[in-house]
Amino acid sequence: MTIGSNLIYFKELTSTNSQASRLLKEGLAAHGYVIYADYQTSGRGRAGNKWESERGKNLLISIILNPKSILPEDQFYISMAISLGICDFIDYHLSESKIKWPNDIYVNDDKIAGILIENSILGGILESTIAGIGININQIKFPLSVPNPVSLSTLTGREYDRKVCLKEILGCLDGRYELLMSGKPEQLKNEYLSRLYRLNEWHLYRSEGKLFRGMIKGITTCGRLRIIEENGAGMEFDFKEVEYIR
Ligand code: BTN
Repeated sequence: MTIGSNLIYFKELTSTNSQASRLLKEGLAAHGYVIYADYQTSGRGRAGNKWESERGKNLLISIILNPKSILPEDQFYISMAISLGICDFIDYHLSESKIKWPNDIYVNDDKIAGILIENSILGGILESTIAGIGININQIKFPLSVPNPVSLSTLTGREYDRKVCLKEILGCLDGRYELLMSGKPEQLKNEYLSRLYRLNEWHLYRSEGKLFRGMIKGITTCGRLRIIEENGAGMEFDFKEVEYIR
């Protein structure tokens, strides 16, 4: 097992991603190490958002990877592998989870997990990846500022042993990372697409202030979202360029 070969626990820290980056720079952590915590004082989400998580209730994990064989232009495959690993874990406890592009994990129309991938590219080589993962496990009440959150507990009414969950999720992620490394990226991409939230359905979106009805048709090789409009015109979006309307 690669992912989780070494586990480093903190009761409280600023952010597991920031701590992982620090430990990596200082040579105190390497490929396969997992940094996890009970509480983050400055948990980070994508695009400068905050990640808020009640103390001791959820999983807050950062995984250090050295995916040197992945070309920088293929880095979205790492995101796909991590997303699918989380889906495997969620599906072990619940019915089918979905991936809201690029890598939010949804159950029905609500978010159960988020991923913050931070890649470091040096001299055209993907030197290291820090995959930060927040999964809502036992939290029942969420701040109003958090849009459409759910947890395993809100969905099943049960309380989960987070240590067991951590072991399970690391096993799931390890399996998906192996698949990525064994040169089966097409399998990952097909599975990612089969789980894509709103794939091939008409829904409302907003881009550059304009509302439009569109249908998600897939992603490009570099991970941009492909949507067609009702008039058949095709568009591609980067994260934050398109907003899903509920
Ligand atoms: C998102 O949905 O915007 C991504 C959220 C990622 C949150 C996790 S929690 C563990 C790790 N440490 C952080 O500071 N962020 C990630």
